[in-house]
Amino acid sequence: MNSLSWDNQHLKFAQIPILDLVKKYQTPLFVYDQDEILSRISELKNVCYAYENMTIYYASKAFLTLAMAQIIKDSEIGIDVASRGELFIALKGHIDPIKILYHGNNKSIEDITYAINQGVRKFVVDNIDELILIKDISDDLAVDLSILMRVISKVSGINTHKNITTGHHRSKFGIDMDLDFDRVFTFLPTAKHIHFKGFHVHVGSQLLSNESHLKAIDQLFVYIKKLKDMYDITIEEINMGGGFGIKYLETDQPMTIKAFLDSMMQKIKISAQTIQIPLPHVSIEPGRFIVGGTAIILYTVGSIKQGSPYPIAAINGGMTENLRVALYQANYQAMLVDRKNQMEQSYTIVGQACESTDLMIEQAKLPKLQKGDTIAFLNAGAYEHSLVNNFNKTLKPAVVMIHQGIDRVIQRRETYEDLISRDDV
Ligand SMILES: Cc1ncc(COP(=O)(O)O)c(C=O)c1O
Repeated sequence: MNSLSWDNQHLKFAQIPILDLVKKYQTPLFVYDQDEILSRISELKNVCYAYENMTIYYASKAFLTLAMAQIIKDSEIGIDVASRGELFIALKGHIDPIKILYHGNNKSIEDITYAINQGVRKFVVDNIDELILIKDISDDLAVDLSILMRVISKVSGINTHKNITTGHHRSKFGIDMDLDFDRVFTFLPTAKHIHFKGFHVHVGSQLLSNESHLKAIDQLFVYIKKLKDMYDITIEEINMGGGFGIKYLETDQPMTIKAFLDSMMQKIKISAQTIQIPLPHVSIEPGRFIVGGTAIILYTVGSIKQGSPYPIAAINGGMTENLRVALYQANYQAMLVDRKNQMEQSYTIVGQACESTDLMIEQAKLPKLQKGDTIAFLNAGAYEHSLVNNFNKTLKPAVVMIHQGIDRVIQRRETYEDLISRDDV
């Protein structure tokens, strides 16, 4: 991780000794490096804006708080929201509604109406019922909307966990264009306020190479050609979703974002030339790429006991701050923050929830642990905070953001009173 550095025996994050952060804010604690987030965004912009036809939408499901929404606003990129809650926070962060792309596979009449009333004008449509609903609402409100139709990608052989793959026949996301193509495109002319812009596809997450994206382009262009030949419609935009992988473990070798996007853009260009349509606009929705490598979670070791094959170290959190391990066996590297260059031994790191799946790292290699040690889980910026939960009525942790050497709390720790603040008897 770029944000980590050693000062003698003390690990620093974004130039601040981690033990100082622990003293000040306690654990468990999320710590984000704003400068690293900004540098990821500017790396993306440099690659994307070298093309004149690209738009970046940050996939807010990866990490969203008011502070993050403001970073996105100041960076002037777009944002994708997949629920009214994400939309609400984006708007509270003063993001221009015109830069918001509204996703979701089950938007309600209230969701869509709220979004339109707030000024959102672009939707990714997941299914035909939603298409009909959006048409009815846009007719009632007499508001013009742009839409992309999300298609179920038929790309197989994606090298990622099955629970974060969306590119398969049984995916719940999108329309099966091999079955419903004509229903969609015979209906669209009846929707006078809906402007169909093109297709959306998201093949999966944490992809280390662009093989699946390239295959998805082939699939999309079959539909794009059919649309041109049968309905005389030329698409204006393709949205390729997210999925750009990052390095969680030493063994992970992600493609650079430039190499990933360059060959993707090249393929789109050639495919458009082949079927003789103008080069479409291309949008992407990176989440993990922007925030994944920009945060750590800090935990305190509470107990160490004999175990087989390794001693078991329990931390003061676990699946409550980081559900990714239980959800899809995500792998993490952990580091001890105040002892370096010591003989390492293997530990199993477990959480404190009453769930056997709360096993965070099967085999972590760490210097000899003591009760009270602080451990950092690395690359914990994408989807960990978004999945934080109150299982066992555990308090949700605080989130600290560091910008230019200054730390601030961007989300306070929950209190026990918060746990009953919505209750009644
Ligand atoms: C539709 C869509 N777009 C974008 C993303 C972001 O993916 P990633 O964080 O892998 O870039 C996701 C993640 O699940 C998604 O479902």
